[in-house]
Amino acid sequence: MCGVKNMTTRILYSKEDIARRVEELAGTISREYEGRDVVFVGILKGAFIFLADLVRTIPIPHSIDFMRVASYGSETISSGKIRVTKDVETPLEGRDIVIVEDIIDTGITLVFLKEHLKKRNPNSVKVCALLDKKERREVEIEADYVGFTLDEGFIVGYGLDFNERYRSLPDIYVIET
Ligand code: IMP
Ligand code: MG
Repeated sequence: MCGVKNMTTRILYSKEDIARRVEELAGTISREYEGRDVVFVGILKGAFIFLADLVRTIPIPHSIDFMRVASYGSETISSGKIRVTKDVETPLEGRDIVIVEDIIDTGITLVFLKEHLKKRNPNSVKVCALLDKKERREVEIEADYVGFTLDEGFIVGYGLDFNERYRSLPDIYVIET
């Protein structure tokens, strides 16, 4: 794969697959949030490309903000302890939040994010995740809108990294070990 050395990889979702699915998700979300006061909260860094593509196909009025969280310990394996390193700056009281995530793995990050954002008294908090590794879940949580569901495997490209590399690849790859 372009830019990935000494690793066996294969394309899991092409940029065409992704564009098609993002457009479908945008359609569903737009219908559901028509006439509401929606704020898309992108989770940095992984969701930056997904959020950018998603909001550009959403015709209804909306706001955008970002959060960044860090988990203690390894970057690739969730340790369960999470802290906010950049919080949302937009007022959220009474508004409808859609958390935009790149991937749900154990679910620990998402549980933390939902609890954190609920403290701001929004009208609702839902989740849109591009990828969902359902089999790996350690805590009970489901996204409301999911791009693709997959089994185990480490994913890079389209915003997702391996040691901060490969985020800019237009397609989504799985690293085969
Ligand atoms: P969780 O708390 O275990 O659900 O972890 C979610 C976060 O871990 C995601 O937002 C990603 O940043 C990262 N992550 C989990 N799986 C992958 C992967 O396959 N590729 C890249 N990042 C991943
Ligand atoms: Mg992430």
